This record gives sequence, C-alpha cells and structure tokens, in this order.
Amino acid sequence: MYHSKISGLGYYVPENVVTNDDLSKIMDTNDEWIQERTGIKERRHVIRGEDTTTSMGVKAAEIAIQRANVSKEDIDFVIFATLSPDYYFPGPGVLVQRDLGLKTVGALDVRNQCSGFVYAISIADQYIKTGMYKNILVIGSEVHSTGLDMTDRGRGVSVIFGDGAGAAVLSREEDVTKGILSTHLHSEGQHAEELALIAPGMGKRWITDVIADNDPSDESYYPYMNGQFVFKNAVVRFSEVINEGLQANNLEVSDINLLVPHQANLRISQFIQQKFKLTDDQVYNNIMNYGNTTAASIPIALTEAWEKGKIKSGDLVVLAAFGSGFTWGSVIIRW
Ligand code: UT7
Repeated sequence: MYHSKISGLGYYVPENVVTNDDLSKIMDTNDEWIQERTGIKERRHVIRGEDTTTSMGVKAAEIAIQRANVSKEDIDFVIFATLSPDYYFPGPGVLVQRDLGLKTVGALDVRNQCSGFVYAISIADQYIKTGMYKNILVIGSEVHSTGLDMTDRGRGVSVIFGDGAGAAVLSREEDVTKGILSTHLHSEGQHAEELALIAPGMGKRWITDVIADNDPSDESYYPYMNGQFVFKNAVVRFSEVINEGLQANNLEVSDINLLVPHQANLRISQFIQQKFKLTDDQVYNNIMNYGNTTAASIPIALTEAWEKGKIKSGDLVVLAAFGSGFTWGSVIIRW
C-alpha cells in the first residue's frame, strides 16, 4: 500500500480582468454590494477564440507536470473536473490527452461542480494507493462567463463566478506518514435544483426543445442559485467535513497549518475561520481576485499559496469544498 502526494501544482487564468465597476456598467450592481456580500473585487473572463476550459486546463497542467519533475510520458491517467466542458461530449479529459500529447492513457471526467477537484483528488488517491498508477494529472478548469445571465435578472449569480484553471500531479509516495492522509466525500441530491443549470439537458428541457423554442427570455438556460439556502448549507457542511477529516486522522484543529477552502464566498471562508478559531495565516483566500471558479478554485488557491511559500514540508494542509449537488468533501494532506 502506498500513499499519494501532490508533486506539482500549476494554474492559469485568462488575462482579461473584469472589475466590479465593469459589471456595474452592464447590470444594476455596484462594487460596494459585491465586496460586502462576497469579498470579490475582480474576476477573469475568457475572450472568445483565446481560452477554453480545456486550453486553460492544459496550460495549468503543463506547469504542474514541469514542477512535478516528471515527463508527459510518465502520466498514467487524467482526471478532469469541470461543470463547463468545451463540448457536451466528449468531456475535456480526452482533449487534454490529445492536446498534451499524452500516451493513450485513461481520461476521466468528473461532474461534481465546486467539489469537483476534491472528488478528483480522492479518485486519484485511490488509484495510487492500490499501486495501479504512479502519476496522475488532476485538473479543475471552468469557463463561466460565456454562460451567465449578464442582465439585472442574473446579477445574484453572475457577479460571483469567474474563469480559470488549476492542476496538480499526484505521485506515488512510499512514506505512508506523508501525502494524502484521507479524503471524505458526501452528497445530498435532495437539493440538486437549489444550485443548477437545467437547460439544455436530456431531462426537463431537451436540446430539441431549446432549438424549437428559441426563447431567450427562458431563465432555465442560466445557472440558478438559491443563494441564502446554499450559504446556510455551505457553512454547516464545510465545518462537518473538515472535522470528519481531522477526526479520522486523530488530529485537532490546532494541527492545521493551512486550510484552503473552495472559494465560494469570502464570508463563508471567514465564518469557517472564526468557527475553527484559525488565524489569517492559516486560511488561504483569493476569491477577491478571481471570484468563484468552481472546480478550479482550490487548485488555483493551493498553487498560489505554494508559490508564496505558505506550504512547507511536514505541514498539515486541509482542502474543503461545498457546492452544487449538493456535494461536499475534504482532503487532509501531510505535505
Ligand atoms: O460555490 C458554490 C456555492 N455557492 C455559494 O456558497 C454561494 C452562497 N450564497 C452567497 O454567497 C450569497 O447568498 C450571495 C452572495 C449569492 C447573495 O448574498 P445575500 O446576502 O444572500 O443576498 P440576497 O440574495 O438575499 O439579496 C439581497 C438583496 C436583494 O435585494 P432586495 O430583495 O433586498 O431588495 C437582491 O436583489 O441584494 C440584491 N442583489 C444585488 N444587489 C446588487 C442580488 N444580487 C445583487 C447584485 N448587486 N449583484
């Protein structure tokens, strides 16, 4: 039995910065409201023809592979988490296999929204633990901006989300006191429609309906979020799943060197920080600069934290996520 460790990290965000003031020119919103409710100052939006979910994932992956000190031939498997794939099908995993020029390794797509990266890490960890694979490329990447309702009607959602990508290489670790100590995953589908994009799908609103109706006023084409309900569930589930991970490893909150929460809302991160009595140095947030990038938020934040020297060998690093599904999860890492 082996452990897996994060051997390389990378991120990529589009160059196009969209500030709160930029948004206030196209919808009824303002910098004060957005910062007060979410902490967000700006986010990135792709420019058509320049970046896609896959191309950003590839750029982040190239950095992660280089830092992991492995070559592309060493990658045994690809896991790609996104809710915003380039194509309805096939998923972006195979596009990464092609665009990075990897061997004909397996490529898996994960559909767990804000928890996508945590789910993907958990899957990679299992494959490495059993000895089946040695190096797995895990990517979280999202393009939200091209599918948001950028009118007054959509302001409660569209000011929050941003585009970007992060990637990690997970590699075999022989020392089982190090690396990923545990992962815990949960779901509660009862609340599936509280944060969802319903159409087009193969369920309620078929692709053929959408084409036949050609009705731009139909709100089901846009993401829907019951913000306050999601917020209330998020703070409870984040706390539960962090505690679950710590307890499974006989660890205390005081053992945490760095918590990297999914960047859903700065107020959620601050609530968790206060609840666990963590200092500013123990929690990494960057939602101010990128908004909520869903499956990309943890790998972008983790990479930034690592680049800033906030993670040292031997540190206890905790990742936690909550989002659409609802799904939530945590990862406990001894770096
Ligand atoms: O990553 C996945 C998980 N997602 C989350 O965890 C998100 C959780 N939820 C939230 O972060 C918050 O609920 C939001 C930031 C989305 C919204 O904050 P809120 O404090 O719950 O505001 P609200 O939706 O209750 O809206 C309050 C007021 C409303 O006006 P009235 O009815 O009081 O007159 C909204 O119409 O704010 C208005 N409003 C806005 N005003 C200016 C909503 N969006 C905006 C906006 N700019 N962008």
